[in-house]
Amino acid sequence: MKKAILCLATVSAVSFGSLLVAGESVTLGIDDLTSGIPGSGALTLQQARKWLAVPANHAELDVKLPLGLSAGERDMRGLTANPLTRAKIELGRQLYFDTRLSADNTVSCSSCHHPQEGFGRHTQFGVGINGLKGGRNSPVSYNRILSDAQFWDGRAGSLEAQAVGPIANPIEMGNTHEAVVSTLKEIPVYAAEFKAVFPKSGVTIDNVGKAIASFERTIVTSATPFDYRDALKPFVSLEPEDLADLREDDPATWQKYLDLQQGAEENPMSESAIRGESLFFSKEIGCSNCHVGANLSDEKYHNLGIGMDSKTPDLGRFAETKDEKDKGAFKTPTIRNVALSAPYMHDGSLKTLEAVVEHYVKGGTKNRWLSDKMKPLKVTKQQKLDLVEFMRFVTGRYPKIASGRLPE
Ligand code: HEC
Ligand code: HEC
Repeated sequence: MKKAILCLATVSAVSFGSLLVAGESVTLGIDDLTSGIPGSGALTLQQARKWLAVPANHAELDVKLPLGLSAGERDMRGLTANPLTRAKIELGRQLYFDTRLSADNTVSCSSCHHPQEGFGRHTQFGVGINGLKGGRNSPVSYNRILSDAQFWDGRAGSLEAQAVGPIANPIEMGNTHEAVVSTLKEIPVYAAEFKAVFPKSGVTIDNVGKAIASFERTIVTSATPFDYRDALKPFVSLEPEDLADLREDDPATWQKYLDLQQGAEENPMSESAIRGESLFFSKEIGCSNCHVGANLSDEKYHNLGIGMDSKTPDLGRFAETKDEKDKGAFKTPTIRNVALSAPYMHDGSLKTLEAVVEHYVKGGTKNRWLSDKMKPLKVTKQQKLDLVEFMRFVTGRYPKIASGRLPE
């Protein structure tokens, strides 16, 4: 009886091949989702049509996160409301890099969140069309899959809502949603892609948001030297006999152990970074009071006093909640790959990680709303260097992303 059922299952798997494809499991950051439709140069309608005709490119992906970030897999956001498919991600990739979304054809999302500049920009403030500047530093656009709230003050409730904002922001892309929709409708490759990805609604501003958000969710950081070391910790305390038992009884875990060991050997932490790690997570220094969890951010809002000594300080989260205690509070940014995205803080006022550490050592900038977690720190010169060194070792690779292959 059991055999018969098994047999049936095999038959149905063969005849409904696409059902199996529907569950394709991918690890973001590792499996290739963002290197563009095969080919080079401008993407032609013929190339796009051929690729869109492959059913697997429209199958819902079952998403995993790479080592390190994987601890946050249960906190992934937005995937039920806006499931990931290869075709949607690819459409979002094109929109992210396409300057045709801006009023004068000069600015794209990547102008301020650039893959080569840690998905931020090495300018103090974001620079939009006609060289216009806002008052905030471009935050990084990776690992955002782990949060609903976006912006330094959390005013956007999802990546989808966030993504359509800059298009119509007069100092960013300076366009209107109506104009973008009609521009995209007139580009045959986009028209074909929207029709294939969103058969019921086609080109709409909401669908632009959905596609860009899907692309952004795939930009995640892979395992760092810190992650290999951290994941090996449970094994380090095992006695040789325990390890021998493991090898004997649990080949899968044994293999995981070997892989981690190899990863740690190939991506070692320096002695200074190891000391910095202990400081970062210690009660006395307490960086992990706020930079905690898989993405080393609590995704909450705190006042560190940044910019609070100015005459008209940016009140941050307060504008959103009107709650007195939120004055001058901003969202905790991630420490992952932070070494790649200087300058720092919501106003881009600190140019280096060394300067950031000094800000914490002095206990932040005094003001009425300063977080009670901010206290002057007693640290040596070497310990400050160690903290910076630790942050440099929390750097992992980004997925491969084609930036130039856009619709003709
Ligand atoms: C002119 C520069 C500029 C352009 C163009 C721009 N951004 Fe931003 N982006 C910023 C700045 C500055 C902020 C922070 C604003 C704030 O918090 O008020 C931001 C915030 C974000 C955030 C929130 C990150 C977080 O940690 O909360 C995401 C995601 C993002 N942008 C994605 C995009 C996308 C997608 C596009 C294209 C549709 C885009 N940006 C275009 C400058 C820019
Ligand atoms: C009270 C919570 C809290 C504590 C404790 C804390 N941070 Fe932060 N961290 C934040 C917030 C919030 C910001 C952004 C503040 C702003 O822009 O106004 C930030 C910004 C940063 C940045 C800049 C990141 C960027 O992308 O701009 C770095 C680096 C950083 N913190 C490292 C540390 C280190 C190292 C420690 C320990 C010495 C530490 N933090 C302790 C909440 C905290």
